[in-house]
Amino acid sequence: MAAHGMVSERTLDIVPLSAVMGAEIRGIDLSRPIDDAIFTRILDAFHRHLLLCFPGQHLTEVQHVAFSRRFGDLQIHVLEQYRHPVHPEIYVLSNVDPKTGKTTGRHPDRGTLVWHSDLSFQRRPALATLLYGIDVPRTGGDTLFANMYAAYEALPEATKRRIAGLRGAHDLDYSRQRAGAPPMTEQQRRETPTVDHPIVRTHPETGRKLLYISHHICRIEGLPIDAGAALLDELMAHATDKRFVYHHRWRRGDVVIWDNRCTMHCATPYDATEERRVMHRTVVKGDVPV
Ligand code: SIN
Repeated sequence: MAAHGMVSERTLDIVPLSAVMGAEIRGIDLSRPIDDAIFTRILDAFHRHLLLCFPGQHLTEVQHVAFSRRFGDLQIHVLEQYRHPVHPEIYVLSNVDPKTGKTTGRHPDRGTLVWHSDLSFQRRPALATLLYGIDVPRTGGDTLFANMYAAYEALPEATKRRIAGLRGAHDLDYSRQRAGAPPMTEQQRRETPTVDHPIVRTHPETGRKLLYISHHICRIEGLPIDAGAALLDELMAHATDKRFVYHHRWRRGDVVIWDNRCTMHCATPYDATEERRVMHRTVVKGDVPV
């Protein structure tokens, strides 16, 4: 470490995690302030690898929020039941009852078990998500990530022409109900009206085209419901093929940040009675997709 506890550039060690995406950044303690030079390298690695994992972290809520804010303004989620009581920017995904310290036996958020891109149901969806593994199961509770640049690039030219200009209508209540999550309140529904986004999106930083789909999509604008659903199924099956997917097995203390603009993700199930899974999530606001 350099003077004043700042993380210095020469300590940064970037190791690719897979051929699909992802890099692990070693030798960095996110609880300390990070100078601009090192943050620029982190940002560059983030754009090149789409997902970064910082292993072995010990963060307070304040430190988690402070590091997340380096990437931009944070989102406070409409589902207030998940908000941390003191730090509302943190979305708590936990099957541990804070009063008893025992497992609840219930998955905390079934909406995370289907493929999606965070906050795609908002006019300005998420730029990035930072997920901190505080307590992780011995088996299950992994997270899968799909590389949506690669998925788009591998599409047949005829499909690229077919989907050019199409827009998907994204709706949080629709996807949560399909995933078996409890219904949203009237107020929450009012705060999340259906929004539409292009199915082929250009990344604002890299300029690359990508497939922007999600289980939040309830219809494809201008197509009959069945035809839109069939197209979405076809694109979903293609994008989640193992050629495009990185599988993250959590270790306690991992902080994983991913780019929601060019990836989709879903969590895998776990035994919510026998295993403990406590994750803190922050989400960085992004731009209107074009
Ligand atoms: C999420 O969908 O944002 C969380 C994924 C996870 O819990 O692994």
